[in-house]
Amino acid sequence: MQQPDAAAATPSGASKSLPGTPAAAPPAISTAAPRAPAAAAAAAPAYALPTCKLACVMVGLPARGKTYIARKVARYLTWLGHHSRIFNVGNYRRDAVGAMQPSEFFDPDNEEFARQRAEVAINALNDMIGWLDKLDDDDEKSLSGSLNFQPPSASVREGPLKTPTSATPTQSTRVDEASKKPPGSASTASPGGRPSAAYSSTDHAGGAARVALYDATNSTPERRLFIMEQCREHGIDVMFIESVCDDPKIIVKLSSPDYKGADPEKAVEDFQSRIRFYEKTYQTLDRSEAEGTISFVKLINVGSQVIVNNVRGYIQSRIVYFLMNLNITPRSFYFSRHGESMFNVMQRIGGDASLSPRGEQFAKRLPEIVIRNLGEGTRLTVWTSTLRRTKETARHLHVPKVAWKQLDELDSGVCDGLTYEEIEARYPADFEERDSDKFNYRYHGGESYRDLVHRLEPVILELERHYEPNHSIMIIGHQAVLRAIYAYFLNIPHERLPYIKVPLHTVVKLTPKAYGCEEERFSADIAAVDTHRERGTPLNPSPRLNPSGLAHTHSLAPSSLDVVSPLGRISLNN
Ligand code: F6P
Repeated sequence: MQQPDAAAATPSGASKSLPGTPAAAPPAISTAAPRAPAAAAAAAPAYALPTCKLACVMVGLPARGKTYIARKVARYLTWLGHHSRIFNVGNYRRDAVGAMQPSEFFDPDNEEFARQRAEVAINALNDMIGWLDKLDDDDEKSLSGSLNFQPPSASVREGPLKTPTSATPTQSTRVDEASKKPPGSASTASPGGRPSAAYSSTDHAGGAARVALYDATNSTPERRLFIMEQCREHGIDVMFIESVCDDPKIIVKLSSPDYKGADPEKAVEDFQSRIRFYEKTYQTLDRSEAEGTISFVKLINVGSQVIVNNVRGYIQSRIVYFLMNLNITPRSFYFSRHGESMFNVMQRIGGDASLSPRGEQFAKRLPEIVIRNLGEGTRLTVWTSTLRRTKETARHLHVPKVAWKQLDELDSGVCDGLTYEEIEARYPADFEERDSDKFNYRYHGGESYRDLVHRLEPVILELERHYEPNHSIMIIGHQAVLRAIYAYFLNIPHERLPYIKVPLHTVVKLTPKAYGCEEERFSADIAAVDTHRERGTPLNPSPRLNPSGLAHTHSLAPSSLDVVSPLGRISLNN
């Protein structure tokens, strides 16, 4: 990575250094003219939404779940349709100096190592500011179409950073894995390292925020002040998220590439020594920082206590609310579509039909599949929609049930009760439009997948909040609804979400892990029609049957090697 041009350091020409590091040549952070919010605001009509640029800066000793939290926040925001990206300083460090560094590398008294660490931290910060500063054309289009958004001045749009790292292809290689998009998706970083917008201008439900997560220890007030100053110069709001764990019973998961292939015992020893080095200078967040202007949320022992200071605005509040619902209780969720319905057999969408005979067979088989899987001593609660086919599917499960209106199938408006062939014949332009942008297409008088995601947010928060050990939740839902929920857990981008395969008569078990999700699928081995239609494919003249699939498929997140340490359980993998 090229270093920022020192001559372009600050308007005054003075280079800035990360506090707590030796003065010897810390890389300068380049700053151009800060944005002029007043001027932009004056030009904008009163009803324009302000752009939200937020840096969530993680704080905490190593192995306090910072990366886990950052990834969850990024995934949640992306699922809601905001732009989010993680800047993980550990990745920058590994790129710069290699993964295998002894714990001494983190000794704050070692000047050379401290300088090297400051350098990578500033590179990550520069890239983050560059990304947040860049309102790319697609973003502007998506906002301006429906909201009369006024783009800020050209100088802001260009991005103030002179460092070539801020918008070069190499930037995307340093972005945290969790925020990468699979190839081919519309929001994949472009060759310029910029994501393109994933939605059209006509169906944008509100201002999309740009939220970066700066994932590092950021363990001293001086460093935090420096980050705040840099961000504020660029009109970027900063909210710190600290994770404090002092409960030795808490399971701390560390999935560090730093110890790939290392002897587990030595790795734990080295890691503990690294933590001791950080403890020398670490100071928890305090409301007096930055002359009392600091915004933060402090999570103590993973949600057992949450301290919120100076948090303002919609996006920050949503993040805090999400964090308040986080917990790390090991649990699994079960999902199944209702049994095949009479409308499925007739290839009609929507409606409130009853189960077909095969659907009824599935309903009867369901208790056997689920109860066998749950194991002894695990309770189950079933959530259904308010529609007949889900309630009928649940009726042989003699467990507590809750019917959620939020879980009702995507509302297909004027197309409700039609076959895809009838929709194509009656509304050819709509049919085509849906195929070209299925996530955003909204049925007349009905909903889009984007609407559905927002409708399902309370369901996701309830699932996240669910903390009782040995108590599982099963959702018996619908094709579109389960696609949206599945996409949240598996971090599937909006463009692919409406095409996720959720076959009938199959139970999906998801077990969230520290850095991913384990998935198992159990087929009931009862044939059913296939309601999945690929983009642009011809319609099926007659209903196809799902072949009765494998009885059980299992896909695993990377396995963990767990080692008990005084901190609790440390998982060394990757
Ligand atoms: O066909 C079953 C169904 O649940 C319909 O009720 C619903 O409109 C449809 O699936 C959603 O799938 P898609 O978005 O692929 O049309």
